[in-house]
Amino acid sequence: MGITFEGYPEITGAEIREALDFCNRQILHVLPEFTDKFQQAYSENGFYPPVENRDWTTGFWTGEIWLSYEFSGDQRLKAAAEVQVHDFLNRIDNKLAVDHHDMGFLYSPSCVAAYKLTGNKEGREAAIKAADQLISRFHPVGEFIQAWGAMDEPGNYRLIIDCLLNLPLLYWASEETGDEKYRDIAEKHIHTAVANVIREDYSTWHTFFFDRKTGAPDHGATCQGYRDGSAWARGQAWGVYGLALAYKYTGRKEYIELFRRVTEYFLEHLPGDLVPYWDLEFNDGDDQPRDSSSASIAVCGMLEMSKYLGVEEAEHYRKLALRIMKSLYDNYAVKDFAVSNGLVLHSTYSNHSPYNTCDHRGVDECNAWGDYFYMEALTRLSKDWVLYW
Ligand code: GLY
Repeated sequence: MGITFEGYPEITGAEIREALDFCNRQILHVLPEFTDKFQQAYSENGFYPPVENRDWTTGFWTGEIWLSYEFSGDQRLKAAAEVQVHDFLNRIDNKLAVDHHDMGFLYSPSCVAAYKLTGNKEGREAAIKAADQLISRFHPVGEFIQAWGAMDEPGNYRLIIDCLLNLPLLYWASEETGDEKYRDIAEKHIHTAVANVIREDYSTWHTFFFDRKTGAPDHGATCQGYRDGSAWARGQAWGVYGLALAYKYTGRKEYIELFRRVTEYFLEHLPGDLVPYWDLEFNDGDDQPRDSSSASIAVCGMLEMSKYLGVEEAEHYRKLALRIMKSLYDNYAVKDFAVSNGLVLHSTYSNHSPYNTCDHRGVDECNAWGDYFYMEALTRLSKDWVLYW
């Protein structure tokens, strides 16, 4: 069954409730500041400044509000989330900073969640428009959804592993509208992505380029990892969760084995406290920042996949999830309003290195998805959760 971290402590049911209770209190505490405005993608010295709804990350904050509403039933949360859903409809109607593939990250935890939880009609409308925006980025030559930049931009004929999390929006849109076009594009993209981003040793490429004329696979490259050939921790974690979702939506059995292998690579490269450094090249003893968000993302993937596995293997992944969450709760979670207005410390957005192409920002801070997936993981452990994805 592979790596188990036998002997490591597991988060208890009481700790899961305490952790969710603190998240709920923190979210209510900061809600007045972050109802008309959103949290920036990453905190600065532990505190998120308020920003307009323009980045690829704002849906996570609304998603935290919905998870908190599920936990507590507090009507103030529902009212604030509805203000934000209205803003998301305005954003897609006016095409405000939506020229990229992150429509799922934006619209699943905010607007699909609103519709699933409360029947919110603006949420449904906004999410279907976002799905239309997402499929407009599909390249039939190569059969993939382009991640970044203008569609005719020479240096951007590529997909990135993160996009696997954008695709549930397309499956949802097909179910809602009865139109198969969304699902067809999602299936094609998944197939292209899975065939190319996973390397022989089951580490993953962050991004993968195709030949614009023929669509043939060209080469892998990193953007946010340490170097091209290394495994960016969050990319690997997007792979873990992305493969679980790919299996859920396509039912393709071969994705189960790929999930096992990609997850094993992630687990084998964890340091002693089970929370990865920002790139899996680094481990205990290296003077490098952590990316705690990757741990939560991978836990969500393991918990999702465990629904489709036999009893013994499901229990294996659930125990791993409980052990990683124990470390996150004990060593990384915020427990004091004075320390941070976020939920989880020691995450890394993008860490510039001599060998990568990303901007340097949000290093060793909270970030929006780190907070969101920590709450999602706790929620998954506390009940039979209906996915926003
Ligand atoms: N999807 C971008 C990131 O994970 O930073």
